[in-house]
Parts: sequence; C-alpha cells; structure tokens
Amino acid sequence: MEFFEVIKKRRAVRMYKPDPVSREDILTILEAAHAAPSGRNLQSWSFLVISGEKKQVMGESYGKIAEGYTRDWEDPQARESFINYSRTYGGAPVIIMVLADADPVPGVNRMHLESGCAAMENILLAATALGLGTCWMTGPLQDEANLRKLLDIPDDKQIVAVTPLGHPVAWPDPPVFPVPDFEQKIRWII
Ligand SMILES: Cc1cc2nc3c(=O)[nH]c(=O)nc-3n(C[C@H](O)[C@H](O)[C@H](O)COP(=O)(O)O)c2cc1C
Repeated sequence: MEFFEVIKKRRAVRMYKPDPVSREDILTILEAAHAAPSGRNLQSWSFLVISGEKKQVMGESYGKIAEGYTRDWEDPQARESFINYSRTYGGAPVIIMVLADADPVPGVNRMHLESGCAAMENILLAATALGLGTCWMTGPLQDEANLRKLLDIPDDKQIVAVTPLGHPVAWPDPPVFPVPDFEQKIRWII
C-alpha cells in the first residue's frame, strides 16, 4: 500500500473479527515499531503482546472505566456500544502495550515517552499496511496500578499506550480531505 494511502486508511478500529493475527505479522509490526526514531537513539521502548486470560481481565478493567467515562452520554446506543468495545477491546485477539523507560529526570522521561509514541504510531501504520486494525488507547491507564500488577510491569518502565490488534469487521470511513480549517493550524515563520 502506498504510504499516503496507509496514512489515510488508518483509523481507530473498534470492532474486530475473532480470527487470530499471525506471529509473523506481529513481529513485522513490532520491527516497524523498533525502526522508529528515538531520543539519543536509545530505542528505550519494549512491547507486551497480550492474549488469553490477561486480555480478558484488561477488558473487564477498561469496561468499568468506560462505564464511568460515558455516564453523561445522551445517546444510550452509543454508550452501550462504547462500553461493549471497552469490555472486549472490540473482540480483538491481541492487545499490544508499548512501554518506555521511566527516568526521574523529567526531560529524559519525556524523551523516552515521546520515543514510545513514535514506536506506537509505527505500530498503527504497519498494522494498517498489513490490513490489520488498531486503536491507540490511553483510557485503560486510568487503572494503571492494577495493569502493572496484572502484567508484572516494573517501576522503571512507564506505559505509553495500548492498542487492540486484529482483523477489522469493517474499516471506518476515511477522514475528509482537505480539512476545511487545516491552514489555520499552520503558522509560517519566515
Ligand atoms: C493519545 C491517544 C489516546 C487515545 N485514547 C483512546 C482511548 O482510551 N479509547 C479509545 O477508544 N480511543 C482512544 N484514542 C483514539 C481516538 O479516539 C481516535 O484516534 C480519534 O477519535 C480519531 O479517530 P481516528 O483514529 O479514526 O482518526 C486515542 C488516541 C490517541 C492519539
């Protein structure tokens, strides 16, 4: 798939088929993540590939968060659908969590976190190029203490984000281009 096609095709996918994702595809995606730029070229990221019972426990945790988060939503159907997505991570067979090194120096910590974000974006784009869906998620981190315990994450690592990974039931519509107020987002300094 051509690069800009991948950029436009990538969307937050929230419904997945139960079909497994091959180990080969997961490794290809994580290799792409590992090719991201990183502060001081430290590649200070690591990845958890989660399936089975722990994935289910993560869904229960995020489901509870989503119930609270959507309490004020006026559309009951939208609320139910979001909670259902959260409880099951959309039925995806795998969740990938990106970790970054943690550092007591705020500037260094930020550098590691941003490196982790670069890796995360590569995961999303590589998955799209392989026809697989993802959804960058930080909401589940509201239950960070329990996630750390569940997944045995040491204190010297910070959680960047998680994404389900799987075969989409359908691709959301592509975003509208050109964005009407796009030029207002740019300030040219000459
Ligand atoms: C930093 C970040 C955090 C996000 N957290 C969540 C989340 O917790 N749950 C979720 O369903 N989507 C989450 N999203 C996905 C966004 O809702 C989604 O990217 C946005 O609505 C734009 O849609 P698109 O990705 O299809 O272009 C997050 C995205 C980013 C970049």
